[in-house]
Order: sequence, then C-alpha cells, then structure tokens
Amino acid sequence: MSPTTTSRGRAARAFALAAVLATATACVGGTEYTQTTFHPVSEYGSLLNRVFYNTFAWTMAILVVVLALVAVVVVRFRERPGRSHPRQIHGNTALEIAWTLIPAVIVTFIAVPTVQAVFSTQRTPVADALEIEVIGHQWWWEFRYPAQGVLTANQFHIPIGREIHLRLTSADVIHSFWLPRIGGKRDVMPQPRTAEGERPRANHLVFVVDSTGRFRGQCAEFCGEAHGIMALYAVAVQPAEFDAWVTSMLDAPAPGGAPPGAAAPAGSAAAAPAAPVQDTTVQPSSLEEQGRQLFLTSSCIACHTVANTTARGVLGPSLTRLASRPTVGAGAAPMTAENLERWIRDPQSLKAGTIMPGTTTGAGGVPPTGLTDEQIRAIAAWLYSLK
Ligand code: CUA
Repeated sequence: MSPTTTSRGRAARAFALAAVLATATACVGGTEYTQTTFHPVSEYGSLLNRVFYNTFAWTMAILVVVLALVAVVVVRFRERPGRSHPRQIHGNTALEIAWTLIPAVIVTFIAVPTVQAVFSTQRTPVADALEIEVIGHQWWWEFRYPAQGVLTANQFHIPIGREIHLRLTSADVIHSFWLPRIGGKRDVMPQPRTAEGERPRANHLVFVVDSTGRFRGQCAEFCGEAHGIMALYAVAVQPAEFDAWVTSMLDAPAPGGAPPGAAAPAGSAAAAPAAPVQDTTVQPSSLEEQGRQLFLTSSCIACHTVANTTARGVLGPSLTRLASRPTVGAGAAPMTAENLERWIRDPQSLKAGTIMPGTTTGAGGVPPTGLTDEQIRAIAAWLYSLK
C-alpha cells in the first residue's frame, strides 16, 4: 500500500467519523437542550429568534455568493500554459456603485427588524402586568411578588397569557438574568441608594409566555466563584393554577380558621399553628416533626423564611415549598433528601463560596451550626416534605 493510499484512507475515515458525529448532534429537539433559544415560549423569545434567523439568512446568502464568485475566479483565471495574463482593470464606476449599494440595502433589511425588536422588548408594561421583583445574590435568585405578598427563591411561577414585568436589581455585584426559552438576557445591577419612600431604580424585562412548562435559566454574567451554580427556573402555568400556587406560598389563616383548600379535621389538635398548608391532610412523620422543631429552634431561622412557621430570615433564600424546586443550592445538586443532608452538613463541598455555614465550618460571618448527623437527617426530612 502506497503512503498516498494510507493517508487517503485515513482522511476518508476521519470524514466518515465527523459526518456521523455531526448527524448525531444535529438539531435535536428542544427538550434535550433545556437552555435553547431555538424553541421560544414567549413573544419576546420568538422575536429574538426571528431577528437571529433573519440575520443568519442574509449572512449565509452573502457567504454563498462570495464563495461562488471566488470559485469562478479561481477556475476561470487560473494559470495555464501558453496563456497570458487576463485584461487588468482599475476603476469601474458601475461596479463600485453596485458593491456599495447592495451592502447598504442588505444592512437595511437587517437593521430595521433589529431596531424594531429592540423597541418592542423595551416597551412599557401594561397596567395589569404581573410585577415581580427579581433580586440577584451571590449566588442565588430572590423573587418577590409585591401585590401577592409572595417571597420565593431560585424558582418562580408565572401565569401564561398575562404580561409579566420583572424588575431586576442586585444585592451585591452585577449578575445577568437569562431564561433562554423566554428571552433576555438582561443585566442585574446593584442600584444606588434612593431617597426615603422612593423606589429603587431597576432594569426591566417584559414578556408574555404562551406555553406551560418549567424553563431553566442561568446567571449569564461572571459574578464570582460560584457564578456557574446560579441557576433559576420559571414555571409557567394556567392562570387558575397560578392563583393556587400563590395561596400555597402564603401563610395559612390564623389557627382556628380552616386552612384554605384543605378538608382538615376541624378543631382537631392536629391543626398545629405551624403545620404547612400542603401537609394538613397528612400527619408528619415523627422524623419530619423533629426536623421542623430543630429547624425552628436553631440558627437556620436567622437567614431563612418558611411560610406558616416562625422562620422569617431574609439573608438567605426563602425555603417555602423548598422541595418543589428541582435543585438544591440554585443548581448545585438535584433535589433529593440526601443532597439536602449534604448541603446542610457541608454546603461548601457542593458550592464553594456560598455563605451558608456547615456543621463544622462557618461561612459568611456565621459560625458553624454544630448539628449532628441525626439532627441533619431530621431537618432534611422536614425540608424535603415541603413540597
Ligand atoms: Cu450571578 Cu453570575
């Protein structure tokens, strides 16, 4: 076998491998790539996608024309024996006007839809838009619904078909809010102090989501060592489901009144004041009850809020219905009871830099919790029951 044949065979094999890889990875649907911009679920995302495809189509058309011209020139004017140089031209007014005008027209076809999209995505929200305050923290997301009184973190619910108005601010450094299937991204900036009673300035995102589902997003601006673990989830639901979610996130009415939506054994001693709304029909196991009491008597409540309990801290993420979120630590690990235990025991091992203290290592100026493995198991069991 000659060296040429071998290298040709090698090239053929490499080409075949590349072709197989390209086919295997090409254009799989939106479900595999949760953070794709190509399957938008909002008018905002669709608009961005259209601008992208418009620009892409024009640039590809230019590429094809230029490559075709290059090919023609290479073949037609190649060096051939006995052939003199072709006629040389310098200065051709008609050609020069053409290659100035054509790009100008193409730029217009790209610029007009782009500028329209910029204005459309910066529009003033309608009066009855659902307003949500989004606060970026190192490294998690806080969500406040001023009109509904809801506080949550790392995952937030929105109704489909209604305009959503996000007011984005940061508690520390610059973050960037990005939900690829919905739209954005938008910088999340720390804002200067404002006068008493004046609303802090904010960046805004306005969109309407048209399909239900859970959509993953990510902080898109480097913001410190755990920037890569700053995930967020938007859960888009039917309006009625959204109203039910709002109710489930709030404190149940004071003891004595029946908790909303629950056929609780009226007046029974089981209606403990701090029982979570979702659990009123299920007796918490003793491990969960033990965990609840441990949580509410430990330093946890200095930083965390849990609806229907005395925990009202706001330094860390709200833990109301914590286990309905898909991950622990804003994307550090999947939501399981085991991972909650790991997180409580040694959060730094899952997310370096977090200011959550572990059992033996303090963090963020907070001393170690000193919880035993048994206590951790109980607390994790209770938190995991908060669905
Ligand atoms: Cu927050 Cu990157």
